[in-house]
Amino acid sequence: MKRALFITFEGGEGTGKSTQALVLAGKLRQLGYQVVATREPGGSADADAIRQLLVSGETGRWSVTAEILLNYAARESHLRHTIKPALAEGAVVICDRFADSTRAYQGYAGEGDSQLIDQLDQNIVGETQPDLTLVFDLDPRIGLERAGTRGGDDRFERKGLAFHDRLREGYLAVANEFSARCTVIDASGSKDDVASQVWQALSPLIEDARQ
Ligand code: TMP
Repeated sequence: MKRALFITFEGGEGTGKSTQALVLAGKLRQLGYQVVATREPGGSADADAIRQLLVSGETGRWSVTAEILLNYAARESHLRHTIKPALAEGAVVICDRFADSTRAYQGYAGEGDSQLIDQLDQNIVGETQPDLTLVFDLDPRIGLERAGTRGGDDRFERKGLAFHDRLREGYLAVANEFSARCTVIDASGSKDDVASQVWQALSPLIEDARQ
């Protein structure tokens, strides 16, 4: 049986990570892998309800501490109902955003309490850390324009450019801190170029990506 894998896609707005997560899921399914594609915040009924609270309303609706707690509440439900059962069945779980989003958005860019994030992470995520995290890196000036043309205008996209510049730095700091599982993807290239970087990053983990 092909072994269970937990792969997370991370990055700022408009970096193309959601598109690439779907491309990878399709490719792996064609090769015969059982794939569960999911996303955060969300991925279970309760987590989807929390997502609505997080992405709608005024920019300053939640304090950064409330955002941390809501994201980890959603994550706990997502892990329990979706991620852990899928991994137990031997599936490849592809998750569009996970705990590094809290580290980058709330921790670095939002200047939230990183100790609180670490404590919640130990308690809620624990051993279920990703095997591979792809950090999509792109100038937010390009990313926000791409996100804008897609019609996206959620609470986070509406935060200013300075926030998104810090977010980019935050993601690079996360990639550095967790370098054993993180690969930085240059998201400025074409869709095919980015897809081949993603495939290459998978090669230490799966036989098919080595050929
Ligand atoms: P999405 O646009 O990628 O679906 O994500 C929704 C928003 O939620 C996005 O702007 C990033 C934000 N977010 C956080 O701020 N912290 C988190 O922990 C997660 C998972 C998402």
